[in-house]
Amino acid sequence: MKTAILISGSGSNMVALVNAMTRGDVPADPVLVIANQQGAGGIDKARALGVDADVIAHKDFPNKAAFEAALSIRLKQAGTELICLAGFMRILSPEFVAEWAGKILNIHPSLLPAFKGLDTHERALAAGCAVHGVSVHEVTAELDDGRIIGQAVVPVKAGDTPADLAARVLVQEHQLYPRAVRKFIQNDPTPLLLGIA
Ligand code: GRF
Repeated sequence: MKTAILISGSGSNMVALVNAMTRGDVPADPVLVIANQQGAGGIDKARALGVDADVIAHKDFPNKAAFEAALSIRLKQAGTELICLAGFMRILSPEFVAEWAGKILNIHPSLLPAFKGLDTHERALAAGCAVHGVSVHEVTAELDDGRIIGQAVVPVKAGDTPADLAARVLVQEHQLYPRAVRKFIQNDPTPLLLGIA
């Protein structure tokens, strides 16, 4: 399945996905990486892995609709059948989500439905959670709200800073995302739980 990966930053989840696809662990072909801003570290990483990578900077467009139209044109040019958002920090419009309905996945650093939105690690610490983690879900018009495909759980440890927790979660992200994409492509509805089972 021709898969495009959208990023905004370092692209560590994109690297994990591309490597898993290249190894054959995920039945997908990484055809394109797109970053929404210049300077995203993941662009060079994608190119080093032999994946076509472009910057389509949202700041270059007068509005969200124009930016998303450019995204869709480039995605269709690559023959995209599945879009994986991986550290992509733009909220997609209901129109874009409808255009790619059922074909967009996202990784979100919390155990959804808890802590939708930003600053999830800070919020989990502030709430005194004993566990935290990451979710891979289908993207719908509602933010961080679609069907959950898999989750990974990590313990919150005494004295954790948000950075400590983010680092612990990130390790699990790289394990979870490829497995979740494989389940999605294989239409395998069985629960996917990593970390503290
Ligand atoms: C990760 O914490 C991920 O959970 C969030 O964006 C962060 C950076 O991801 N979605 P990456 O290294 O750019 O993949």
